Amino acid sequence: MIVVAEGEKIKIRPISLEDVPQFVKWWNDGELMASVGFSRGLGVTEAKLYDDFSEEISDPSSLRERRRYVVLDKVNDLPIGELVYGQLDLAENKCRIGIKICELSYQGKGFGKDALVTFILFLFNHFDLQKIEIDTLADNLRAYSLYKKVGFRETKKESKFWQDPDGIWHDVIFMEMEKPEFQY
Ligand SMILES: CC(C)(COP(=O)(O)OP(=O)(O)OC[C@H]1O[C@@H](n2cnc3c(N)ncnc32)[C@H](O)[C@@H]1OP(=O)(O)O)[C@@H](O)C(=O)NCCC(=O)NCCS
Repeated sequence: MIVVAEGEKIKIRPISLEDVPQFVKWWNDGELMASVGFSRGLGVTEAKLYDDFSEEISDPSSLRERRRYVVLDKVNDLPIGELVYGQLDLAENKCRIGIKICELSYQGKGFGKDALVTFILFLFNHFDLQKIEIDTLADNLRAYSLYKKVGFRETKKESKFWQDPDGIWHDVIFMEMEKPEFQY
């Protein structure tokens, strides 16, 4: 197993095709996905995700614009969540990231903070970044307070920025962090 980074409680590894059923289960779980605005889940199929994952995994570029990773519980190597970076911009030395602790029983126990901090350290070093951006629905207070805690600063709050599949409009908070602001 290729581990790209290790924190106090978690390890981070790239996605593999064997992860597809696990991701389908997570992404279709309305209880988990409600905090990101999909209270009935994403409705993805294994076939679709298999294609997406295959494309990503077969791309050898170490500078790929977007990649997903799996968060493992360090104690037993079980997958508990996902991380993603995207919009990698090496001219501006920045990217955007996302995080989910997908196993509900693991939430609120410090795994999210450890995964986020470990991933940010990995990205700053791996791509020599100066800035990382993140965003959250304004009603996701748990994510918002975690992001503040590790050093993200609010840059913009857009009212009624995104409409979920049930037709409900959400405010979105955009945040960023320069390397010296990082708290870990
Ligand atoms: C948001 C998420 C990543 C946080 O990870 P977590 O493992 O649950 O949180 P942690 O136990 O690491 O807590 C870290 C910090 O988050 C904040 N936090 C955690 N639970 C919280 C809650 N119920 N209310 C407010 N803040 C909370 C606190 O600042 C906490 O720091 P503290 O423990 O020192 O007070 C995780 O809950 C998750 O993935 N949720 C579902 C998907 C999601 O919302 N993803 C983010 C999309 S923008």
